Amino acid sequence: MKTSFNIAVLPGDGIGPEVVNESTKILNAIGEAFNYTFEFTYGLMGAEAIFKTGNPLPDETLQICKESDAVLFGAIGDPSFDHNPDAKVRPEQGLLKLRKELGLFANIRPLKTYSSLIDKSPLKKEIIEGADIQIFRELVSGIYFGEKFTDDEAGYAYDVCKYNRDEIAPIVHMAFQEAQKRRKKLTLIDKANVLDTSRLWRKVCKEIAPEYPDVELDFMFVDNAAMQLILNPKQFDVIVTENMFGDIISDEASVIGGSIGLLPSASIGNENALFEPIHGSYPQAKGKGIANPVASVLSTAMMLDYLGLGQAAEKLRQSVEYAIENKYVTVDLNAEQHYSTSEVGSFIADYIKYSEKSYYNFENVKIGKSTIV
Ligand code: IPM
Ligand code: MG
Repeated sequence: MKTSFNIAVLPGDGIGPEVVNESTKILNAIGEAFNYTFEFTYGLMGAEAIFKTGNPLPDETLQICKESDAVLFGAIGDPSFDHNPDAKVRPEQGLLKLRKELGLFANIRPLKTYSSLIDKSPLKKEIIEGADIQIFRELVSGIYFGEKFTDDEAGYAYDVCKYNRDEIAPIVHMAFQEAQKRRKKLTLIDKANVLDTSRLWRKVCKEIAPEYPDVELDFMFVDNAAMQLILNPKQFDVIVTENMFGDIISDEASVIGGSIGLLPSASIGNENALFEPIHGSYPQAKGKGIANPVASVLSTAMMLDYLGLGQAAEKLRQSVEYAIENKYVTVDLNAEQHYSTSEVGSFIADYIKYSEKSYYNFENVKIGKSTIV
């Protein structure tokens, strides 16, 4: 069995470097506890890369990613670009190009609630308690990648949304297979009452459905889905959708979990995979040590699963739950008692390394003191 892994690390912008730093710390802890080796190769991407090289995705970074077993990515985006619609080079182009070049067609965004955080959500407890959804978002086609055009003088612009069967079928199969492992329900979110591309998605889903007779397939228009997600999230099991609808509804769905700082994602292709939090670069928090590392850490757990290290992934998820249940969290989750980004990361790393050892002090967890005495 493979025990040594090459991980490409792209810290990116804003709070990206801080949260990714906790993930590499935790991977080292996993390495110690389970006897694996993780080699990290760092690459530039995003605004950071534009400032240093003029290119949001330098060739060298792309090469590092292609040669890796998996890519760990932080966040992308910088206010200096957001406020300038005329900027020709933008940080986000780096991420989009990377997704395309690595063929990362399926973006998987799991969503669940934690009982100790249930009141963090602005939604009512009875509505969200027990919600557990997996969103499968198509990631390398649709309006994001269709032809674009701007004629400034004429005040005219367009973005084309295009799909073909071969882009739809693979992610639909993945979503069906995931539904088979779960509550056996798959919902396609689309706008088939208006869009041709959505009608193609429906057709392809219906054609594939007989291969998964144990899964119930249903369809929902995206406007209604936006409402249903917060009215009755428990009706959903696995969702599959096109690129832009997936972008929008996954941010919306993050409200169910109480903090966008908790939500991980995996972007999977046939040869490569990338793991990143769904949150953005949160530039206001950059360098302050207040960012929640959990989304990046849970993305790392998805990476461990992808690498075939399921037991380590399970231990990592348990450690995160233990931290959350014991209120060892950042300020977004508890304004009164909170810890820094790196304290939360170290707590999780220590739990992985020492919780099965006799000297791990569970009592100290409750009073926020060192657990290793
Ligand atoms: C996401 C982000 C990206 C997207 C941006 C940063 C390009 O919002 O991963 O959801 O729109 O896909
Ligand atoms: Mg988004």
